Amino acid sequence: MNLEILKDLSYGMYIVTAKLDKNVGCVINTLCQITSENPLISISLNKNNYTNEIIKKTGKFAVSILSEKTNPKVIGTFGYKSSKDINKFAEVEYEKIDNLHVIKEESCGYLICEVTNIVNCETHDIFIARIIEANKFNDNIPMTYKYYHEVIKGKSPENAPTYIKEETKPSKNIYVCEICGYEYETEGELPNDFVCPLCGASKDKFYKK
Ligand SMILES: Cc1cc2nc3c(=O)[nH]c(=O)nc-3n(C[C@H](O)[C@H](O)[C@H](O)COP(=O)(O)O)c2cc1C
Repeated sequence: MNLEILKDLSYGMYIVTAKLDKNVGCVINTLCQITSENPLISISLNKNNYTNEIIKKTGKFAVSILSEKTNPKVIGTFGYKSSKDINKFAEVEYEKIDNLHVIKEESCGYLICEVTNIVNCETHDIFIARIIEANKFNDNIPMTYKYYHEVIKGKSPENAPTYIKEETKPSKNIYVCEICGYEYETEGELPNDFVCPLCGASKDKFYKK
């Protein structure tokens, strides 16, 4: 079996948000439209993600569709940190729609969804949901998962369903960006001119994990 082929699957880049006592949210790439009439979509959420817990309780979420113009720092905040620990919306431009925080930050538009079904898939849950409201903000080019990896030089954390485990070598070092949480793996040291691909922080803002 050659799992390298999984890297050829195509995805978009999104932020899913929900609200119970506070507003929460995380980056996902695993959104798929399932039906066209009264459209249904599906998203896959890791069971350890706080956003999963809140959507299970409330049955409702918003999806913001990120564009190539979206500041990568937003992906650092929503994709590498937990809403359990921080307020992810503190430094992010958003609009309140249907009582949910929709991310602006040059995003293309949004969907408001109500959960119809939850499918238990080992480490993840698939939430199937009906779109009850949707809107387009602009004609920005939607960000794809490939663009995130190849142009922004971003990576996916372990909680992402599409995370691919690299062979663990004893000499591997992990450097974490203290500004946005981005993790960089290398067999050697961080190069002197290294800057965080998500928030632009310089080498001195990285610590060894
Ligand atoms: C590029 C990218 C794609 C991701 N895709 C998913 C995904 O599809 N499903 C998921 O559960 N987590 C995904 N994640 C990981 C979550 O965004 C991350 O675990 C987040 O910190 C969870 O936040 P929360 O605890 O506030 O919910 C992705 C992260 C990145 C950076």
